Amino acid sequence: MTNNSSQAEQDQAKTRLAELRKEIEYHAHRYYVLDDPVIDDGQYDRLFRSLLDLEDAFPELISSDSPSLRVGGEPLDQFEQAEHVLPMLSLGNVFDEAELAGFEEKMQRYLQSNESIVYLAEPKLDGLAVELVYEKGVLVLGATRGDGLVGENITAQLQTVRSIPLRLRQSTGKETEKIPEQLVVRGEVFFPRQGFNDQNKQRGKEGKSLFANPRNAAAGSLRQLDPKITAARPLDFFVYGVADTTTLPCKELEAMFAWLQEIGFPVNPLIKSCQGLSEVAAQYHHLQQIRHDLEYEIDGMVVKVADFALQQRLGNTARAPRWATAWKFPAVQATTRLLGVHFQVGRTGAVTPVAELEPVHVDGAMVKRASLHNRDEIERKELEIGDTVLIQRAGDVIPEVIKPVKEKRDGTERAIIFPKNCPVCDHPLHRPEGEAITRCINPHCPAQRLQSLIYFAGKAGLDIDGLGRKNMEQLVKVGLVRDIPDIFQLKHEKLAALDGWGEKSADKLIRAVVMAAQTPLSRFVGALGIRHVGEVTAQLLAGHFISLEGLLTAMREDLLEVEGIGDQAAASIFDYFADTSTREMLDQMQTLGLTLQEAKKTGSAPLEGRVFLFTGTLSGLSRNEAKQLVKEQGGRVVSSLSKKVTDLVAGAKSGSKLKKAEDMGIVVLGEEQFQQITGRAEVREE
Ligand code: IVH
Repeated sequence: MTNNSSQAEQDQAKTRLAELRKEIEYHAHRYYVLDDPVIDDGQYDRLFRSLLDLEDAFPELISSDSPSLRVGGEPLDQFEQAEHVLPMLSLGNVFDEAELAGFEEKMQRYLQSNESIVYLAEPKLDGLAVELVYEKGVLVLGATRGDGLVGENITAQLQTVRSIPLRLRQSTGKETEKIPEQLVVRGEVFFPRQGFNDQNKQRGKEGKSLFANPRNAAAGSLRQLDPKITAARPLDFFVYGVADTTTLPCKELEAMFAWLQEIGFPVNPLIKSCQGLSEVAAQYHHLQQIRHDLEYEIDGMVVKVADFALQQRLGNTARAPRWATAWKFPAVQATTRLLGVHFQVGRTGAVTPVAELEPVHVDGAMVKRASLHNRDEIERKELEIGDTVLIQRAGDVIPEVIKPVKEKRDGTERAIIFPKNCPVCDHPLHRPEGEAITRCINPHCPAQRLQSLIYFAGKAGLDIDGLGRKNMEQLVKVGLVRDIPDIFQLKHEKLAALDGWGEKSADKLIRAVVMAAQTPLSRFVGALGIRHVGEVTAQLLAGHFISLEGLLTAMREDLLEVEGIGDQAAASIFDYFADTSTREMLDQMQTLGLTLQEAKKTGSAPLEGRVFLFTGTLSGLSRNEAKQLVKEQGGRVVSSLSKKVTDLVAGAKSGSKLKKAEDMGIVVLGEEQFQQITGRAEVREE
């Protein structure tokens, strides 16, 4: 107990707080979820004020589901990672009724049955996918999708979204309708149109840059370290799914949505049950007609098999469920001029023609380039340089050239000549029979090598801080990096002496490389950019073979034994690891002492159960290294002070957190003590 309040006063405050929270939650639900308030704004504000005042007087009584979280707590230092219990998959696409029929046929083939299927048709919201974890009915974690396996912990930001329930409403006492101990739901956070327009007007007045579209505004608002900024944005939310439907008291989607609504979630009222594809198509056309009248943006419709048992039988591919697909609305189009074409060589050697366009504004973005896909596409479209062309942009995908506007030709147009040799290494290009893609098959092609290195160090790879596209291009150009092992042998003095570099940036990169060297096998394999091997397949491989040796000795049949790996992937993986230059590269990695074991939770986890918070500046190691150490030893790291924190690590210039932690009786460790308990030896760069 803090301050001078007596036990009796505190008990009284506790009771009153519980009443206030319940009352506020009830009215917030009526207002934000049901859109049917029963008191006016003034009355609501007064209730809220009383809650804030009382919590101010009794801060120890603030609960993790208090509506006061809606106004936003302390700013974070950075976002923590949050692992999803089950992967957050993406969705396949169909673009017309024929493709929709194909989607159904494929499922029927898979099920070996022609039985008719009941679907749910849902508006596809154009916002940001989030996951919400409820334990015993209380929101304990909110996260972004991230790479599908690990997202960012944005709990404090999501708590400010008024329509996201902080505590679920126990619907009835019936056993069959109870909320599971842990409930993980997914849904979309979005920025309503009106709020978006107001926000942009305001930003314009303040001379700030405008949001390109409501989707960017939603993403930008959630990725604010200071939840108070998020709280000031009129974000909204609709739930669209549950991670594990086997925990639910219902058997199909329509009942699930009714139940989710009952326990407090906002459910989109335009979700419709459809018997068969003609009803699905009718709903699509209906949504397309009304989309511009809605208060929020939708970019299509999601079609889902309603029955959970059927969903279960259909299962998922590595990327997406087989039982659902997105049917997007046609993309936004514009016309501009095709100024030229250049040919890009990707990391797999694929040569892609890229259109250089007269810059044009499409759907909130400036478009200067567009993919022309491949040679056949150029010929099929009969494109010429100098043409006026129709282009389209759909969401975040790379813009496309649809066709030339032939009526506008004046005779000055020139043919597009597809090169016979690689534009980078001059090796003759090769196009296998029956394939659309032309490739440079020179394994030593510098363009492929560069692109592979960029991929390896980039976001989809090891994500080495300070080694993005530009820096990698420079390091390759000056000859410091030729292949992956060179990255791990970079020398501080050489980096610091480079154009545009200095002690600091060299230091930063070396540190990031030291960190990256401790990568688990799955991440390393994913970063190699082997054809047909994405993150999920890389995880499967590493989980199965555990070590690099295991993978190197695997035969094609061994690879096929791994559940989720098909013929194509197995062949590609086998060829990749059988290649002599791959072998040489991996030998070098091992000589460098890189172990590349899949992290098996062996040995002890001395910090298990302990929750660390860092404050102030550390001198012997970076904050990220320190966090990594804690995680490796089984501890957790959080970014704000709460009762859960067991250890506060205070570096130099620790501020208010240190004082508060001391008041709360939390163990405070200095940097040296921290290094002792984690048994850390100084990380040496050379
Ligand atoms: S279901 C396993 N339903 O669309 C099924 N997604 O690529 C996963 N989205 O990022 C998604 N509205 O954020 C589903 N009613 C809806 C949706 C929806 C929007 C987004 C979702 C995801 C993307 C799918």
